[in-house]
This record gives sequence, structure tokens and C-alpha cells, in this order.
Amino acid sequence: QIKYRQDYLPPAYLVDKVDLTFDVLDDTQTRVRSRMVIHRNPQSTAANVLQLDGSATLLSVVLDGDQLQPGAYQQHADGLAIPDVPDSFILDIETEIDPVANTSLNGLYGSSGNLYTQCEPEGFRKITYYPDRPDVMAKFSTTIIADKQKYPVLLSNGNKVGEGQADKKRHWVKWVDPYRKPAYLFALVAGKLVALKDSYTTVSGRQVALEIWTVAADQDKVAFAMGAVKRSMQWDETRFGLEYDLDIYMIVAVGDFNMGAMENKGLNIFNTSAVLARQDTATDADFERVEAIIGHEYFHNWTGNRVTCRDWFQLSLKEGLTVFRDQEFSADLHSRPVKRIEDVKKLRQLQFPEDAGPTAHAIRPDSYIEMNNFYTMTVYEKGSEVVRMYHTLLGEEGFQKGMKLYFQRHDGQAVTCDDFRAAMADANGVDLEQFARWYSQAGTPLLQVRGEYDAVARSYTLHVKQSCPDTPGQSGKQPYHIPLAVGLLGRDGQDLPLQLAGELAPGAGTRVLHVRAAEQSFTFVNIGELPVPSLLRGFSAPVRLQFDWRDDELSFLMANDSDAFARWEAGQAYAERLLKALLADHAAGRTLQLPAGFVEALRAVLKDHAADPAFKALMLSLPSEADILEMVDVADPGHIHTVREFVLNGLAQALRGEWHEAYNLNQTQRYQPADGGRRSLKNLALAMLTRLSDAWPLEAAEKQCLEADNMTDQMGAMLALRDRDVAERENCYLSFASRWQGDALVMDKFFSLVASSQLPGVLEHVKAAMQHPAFTLKNPNKARALLGSFGRNMLHFHAADGSGYAFLADQVLALDAINPQVASRIVSLFNRRQKLEAQRQALMTRELERILAKDGLSKDVYEIVSKNLAA
Ligand code: ARG
Ligand code: ZN
Repeated sequence: QIKYRQDYLPPAYLVDKVDLTFDVLDDTQTRVRSRMVIHRNPQSTAANVLQLDGSATLLSVVLDGDQLQPGAYQQHADGLAIPDVPDSFILDIETEIDPVANTSLNGLYGSSGNLYTQCEPEGFRKITYYPDRPDVMAKFSTTIIADKQKYPVLLSNGNKVGEGQADKKRHWVKWVDPYRKPAYLFALVAGKLVALKDSYTTVSGRQVALEIWTVAADQDKVAFAMGAVKRSMQWDETRFGLEYDLDIYMIVAVGDFNMGAMENKGLNIFNTSAVLARQDTATDADFERVEAIIGHEYFHNWTGNRVTCRDWFQLSLKEGLTVFRDQEFSADLHSRPVKRIEDVKKLRQLQFPEDAGPTAHAIRPDSYIEMNNFYTMTVYEKGSEVVRMYHTLLGEEGFQKGMKLYFQRHDGQAVTCDDFRAAMADANGVDLEQFARWYSQAGTPLLQVRGEYDAVARSYTLHVKQSCPDTPGQSGKQPYHIPLAVGLLGRDGQDLPLQLAGELAPGAGTRVLHVRAAEQSFTFVNIGELPVPSLLRGFSAPVRLQFDWRDDELSFLMANDSDAFARWEAGQAYAERLLKALLADHAAGRTLQLPAGFVEALRAVLKDHAADPAFKALMLSLPSEADILEMVDVADPGHIHTVREFVLNGLAQALRGEWHEAYNLNQTQRYQPADGGRRSLKNLALAMLTRLSDAWPLEAAEKQCLEADNMTDQMGAMLALRDRDVAERENCYLSFASRWQGDALVMDKFFSLVASSQLPGVLEHVKAAMQHPAFTLKNPNKARALLGSFGRNMLHFHAADGSGYAFLADQVLALDAINPQVASRIVSLFNRRQKLEAQRQALMTRELERILAKDGLSKDVYEIVSKNLAA
């Protein structure tokens, strides 16, 4: 049951209009009537058989008023086929569903007594029978009839056009969405909810009602999200010239949700974790994430809804582009360098491993078993990097020209990644043929660069070699078109003006080189001194870079590069070199030593009082354990942990005075949102200081844990104490858990700390946490917080006796029966199996085989595990 991109065929029938009636909507028995106005697609040459996707209980099928007998159509596992249909007709279908029994949170489902939907990508078919594919775009109306006491609020897409009393107990509401849309953008919400209301006037004067709906208990945590909605609307107008197109924009927050949020037309549904934010319950990072996701879903209204995907292989068309847009939104509103570094960290930590592992796929995949498995870091984050490369190649003006042409050509259509690329190329008159390989080839390209200075010719040449590793099903990759942003630093630390051989005059200090060949050289002239090259500025392409800098050149770049990203990157490269050397020393049984040059480079960062504290905190953070795993071919997770801890402890000791000073200087008085950078540096300093034998940092952390007026500082203290003695952290941890036992999102933070600790006995702590009254496997946030964090725990998940693997495999099996999408995400934590030394690999293999042998395994988990074992 593999689906292939090459098999795409246009739909044989199109739906002009669909009127849905939920009569009656209820928790265990909901009846759905659907009336579709259907006509034959002139583009299709297929036989006159109507194919409908569906899995709900089918009650009746009526074609142009005639009830069809079961012999007049074929029902199969995935839907319905009706042969010999006319060219134009009306089809009425009635189904029945049980939302509360639907623990997959896909389709119509219950959560705390209310009802919600999630239809992307293929959830609509669980509600009714329909051509559930994004290239079928129809005008929807939704009438909902429900008990007024149980479901006082009834929401759907578009504008509310009527409401009234249906009978003594029931009321009805009718919604009409004037825009054509695919079924995946359908949404319905019903229940006891309250709204924060506001409004926004668009640049052309449209008055838009804004509503954020939550359960009553959460209403005091949505003010920030409302501000973020307005900022998103304003930003999309000014930066992209895009305006909102309905009279109402609603957001609903729900505690049980598989992903972050969903861009249903006019009615976005969000995981509570992506909406709720108040200083005492949300960290600075949470606020940042909420604003970014609000932006993301709002931006989808144009990039996703007005122009959507032809088929699901094109998912990155809307996701890569919309992630790029949300990243730019955050960068424009806050620190651009800090945002860029955070995004690259995330890409490296989560996408690079995916691209190097058993499920590696191009941003536009060629095949899938379960589409839900392709909402990946590759499609989203690498997809965004690919969109960013157009921007780097074309500049802001050229990029916006391309966007304009894209909307001119495709508004109201379902299109492909090639259509987007064509708009960018045509609007700018450039050739982007070779660039297409970014869409078809998986794997992270490697750039090996060498510098050559000719003092006599006063020239400096960069020799660039590109390659890309084989990935499952793909070998022998073709060269990519790579924008490589470079600069050359002189002895004084300033950028030298850059002039390529053959150019008449020197230009700016940063140049974007177009790397197209497997091997290519670029010669800069009028270079009067041996420069230090700064490469891949701003992370101009999603590649790995190798260049043989000397240690002192790296600390020189850390201190002087005009590109803030490159300064951070130089520090990471320095740390990488050091960590790799230490891993080799450790494996060979040599004593570990922390080189003075590295310590001094970081001391200089700490002592730079002019620098942005948020940027400093990033400069002072080592590559994560997951990053280190990717730096080596075969790893012993225990060694990775030991070596990284050695460096951290050494830095804590060697820079103790500087950490102490940073801790003191970055204390803030009352909580101010804008002090986030200072909080992050202060809390990093605190975490380093608690590594020392001194008593005062532990006391300071405990005091901060108990008394802080904001969650960032509370969590900072919790993290600083996480790996100390159980006795030392106990006061703080117990009081935190009891204080926040009623707050689901804060308890998620607690569970993730428990599961990510390095203390002995963490597996037992995790098992105990599963018995906590606030924990349930049915809630995706809980499962991710506890099991997801445990699966990323280098020390304990990878315990040499295999206990971590066995435990997680058990949980995957339990979860698969409840919610396959979540189970599939958790089982992906086994995907670095091939990186591990032989014994752990064997232990993992055994668990994966045990999972695969289970009867009735979901497609979701089957796809991940079978690919893992096949690699
Ligand atoms: N389109 C949503 C977003 O990016 C994600 C929905 C994915 N849902 C899923 N069940 N796979 O904002
Ligand atoms: Zn999205």
C-alpha cells in the first residue's frame, strides 16, 4: 500500500459545493448528512466511476434523489466506488460516527466533553465519504444541530449566516465559507467554550472580528496570543502585501491535539501549548513559540489555503514556505541573528539526523505509506531552508516579485512545488533548473572547502567540492545549485572588499557564490594579506561545511566576524573539533584535557559586556549530545555523555569568576518580557555554577525555584538542579509539582525534566511519573513530554542493558492502540540505531522486531519500523 508521486492522476470528478449537516451532533453518536454538487472533470480521461474516500458507518447514498441500493456501488476498506455516474449530479450521503471513541484525534473527536476536528491530511474521510484529496476544492457550508446545554458554542469555517432554536433542547448554527477549499481545511468545534474578542482593521479597511476560544479555565492565558494575531496580520500586510479575506478569524485551543496547530480556513485549531502563555506558566521560549505558531497558521491563509497543494507529495509547497514566512516574522520582530541561530540549531539537531537516517526523504517525497509520517523536520525545516535559498539567490525584491507572480497565477488553485519554482524563475528571468534537485534529492550535502593564498598575485582562491551521501533508495546524487555566502577577514578583523577575478571593481564584504559543479574554484583578487575566510554566512544553504581552520582562526572569527551567525558557527566548529578529539582520547583510555585556547575564547565571550546577552548565551552553549552523535560514525552514547559533561564541568571551573559575574549582572528586578536574553544568560550561568562544589549556587537555585515571579526563572532553576542529587533538588521539585498539579502545560514541563535527567534511576522515575494523576498516555503532550524526553536521554534511553529500549517499545505498543500518529513519532526515536555500537544496535533491533511482530500494527508505526529495520 505504498503511494507514489509519479502515479498522480487528476480527479475524475470535482465537487462544486458541499453542504454538511451535523444532525445531530453528539459525543457518541453523530449523524452527518452531506449534499455534494458534483461534475465531471474535463481534464480527466478516467472512467465514469466516482471514487469517495471514507471509513464512517454508511447509512445511505442518494444520487439525484434516488436512493442507491447497496448493489449499485462498491464499498471497500478505504471508501466507496459508484460506477456509471452522470456528468453532473447531486449526491446525498449520510453517515454515523462516534467521536468519543476516536482516540486517534484525527477526524471528529472528543476532548474534555467538547468536540473538535483535525482533517489534515486525510481526516475528513473519517467523517463522511468524500474525494478527500487537496486538488478537489469546493465551497462548504456547515449546519450544526446540537444540545444547547452540552454544546452552547458551535463553530465552523467562514461566516456565521444564521442560528436558532431547533427544538426544546437543541439549537442550530449555520456557517458558510465563501472560498473554495479542500476537505483537509474543514473544521468544526462544539462545546462549552469562552472567547476573548477583539478586532483588526486591515490596510484596505476590512473590519475583522478576532476570537480566541478556550475552556473557561484557560481564558486568562490568551491575551498574548491575541496580540500575536494582530502582529501577524500587520506583518503580512507590510512585508508580503497580503491581507486577511474573511470578516472573522477564530482560534480554538484544545488540550488534546496531535500537532502544534492547524490552519483550517477562518477557524484555526491549536494545541493549548501553542496558544496559552502567561508569565507565571510560560517560559520566554514558550512565548516565542506561541507567537511563531500563531504567525505560521495565520500566514497559511495565503500560503496553503488560497493557494494549496495539488497532492500530499507537495506538502513542502505550503509548509516550507510558511515556515520561512514565520521565521522571517520572528526575525523582523525580534533579534534576527538570535532567531537564525536558533533555527539552525533546530535544523542540525533534528533534521540532519533525519536526513542521515532510515526515513531520509526529499522535501518533496517520492512515496509514502502513511502521509502523517511526512509532517517532518525535512518537509518543514529543510523545506524552509530551500525557500530561504531562493531569497538568498534573488534578494528580497526578486523574491517578492516571485511571490506576486505565484499568487497572480495560482490564487484559488491546488499546485505543485514546480509551479512555485517556475514563478520564482519567471518573475526574475533566471534559470532554476538545477535548483530543482533540492526537491528531489534527500540527504545533507557536504561542502569541502580549501583556501589558497597567492601573495605574488595578491589573490585568494576558494576551492569548493560538493557531495551528497547516498540515502535509502537514492544513490549517486547530482550536484546542487548552492548559494554560498562568504567573506574574507583581514588582520584587523574587518571584511575585505570582495572582487572576483574578471570583475571591474571591488564590491561589498559579503558575496553569495553560486556553487553548481561538483568541484569549482572562486578567485578573489586584490587581496593584499592572508585573510581568514568566513564561510556559509547566515547559513546560506542547508549543508555541512568542512574547512580546515586553525584554532586561533576560529577564535578570531568568534570575536570578529561581521556576520553574527558566523561568529556563533565558529564557536560551534571549535567545540566540534574539541569534542571529537576528546571522544577519541576517551575511547583510547587517555586522560581528558580541556585546551586553554577554547577556554579563553569563551572567556572573551563572557567578558564582552557590549554583546546581546541572548547571543552570548548561544555562543556559550556546546553542541547538544544529539549533535555530537551526528559528528561521529559509530558512537557509544555513554562516551558522548561523559565527554560533553567533562567539557561543561571544565568550563564551569575554569570560568567560575566570569559565570558568577554573569549571574550577578543579569539579575533582573521585576519581570519584564524584554529581559529574556538576560534571563537566559543568567540561567545558563546558574546551571554552570551548580556544577561546582560550592553550596551557594544550589541554595540560590532553590530560592529562585521557590520564589521566582516567572516560569523562565523557575524552569531555569529546575534545570540547574535537575542532575544534582535527588536530595538537593527535592525541595524544589516537590513544591513545583504540587503547586502546578492543576496546570496541564506546566506539568508537561515537569514530566520532561524528570525524563531528561542524568541522575541514576531515571527509568524508575519515568515509570513512577506514568502513575502520577496528571499523566495519561491518551494526551499527546503528556506522551511527548515524558516518553519523548526519555527517548532523547542519551544516558538512560541508551542504557547498556537495553532496559530503556524495552521500556520505550512497550509504550509504543500501548500507544499504537490509542493514537498511531503519536506512537509513530515516539518509535522514530529508535531511528539512529545504525549510529550505535554493535551491542546497543542488537538490543534495539530486538525491540523493533518485537514491535513489528504485533498484530494490527498501524500503518504509521509499521512504516517507520520497517524502514528502520531495512536500513
Ligand atoms: N498544517 C499544520 C501546520 O503546519 C499541521 C497539521 C499536521 N497534522 C497532522 N495530523 N499531520 O501548521
Ligand atoms: Zn504549517
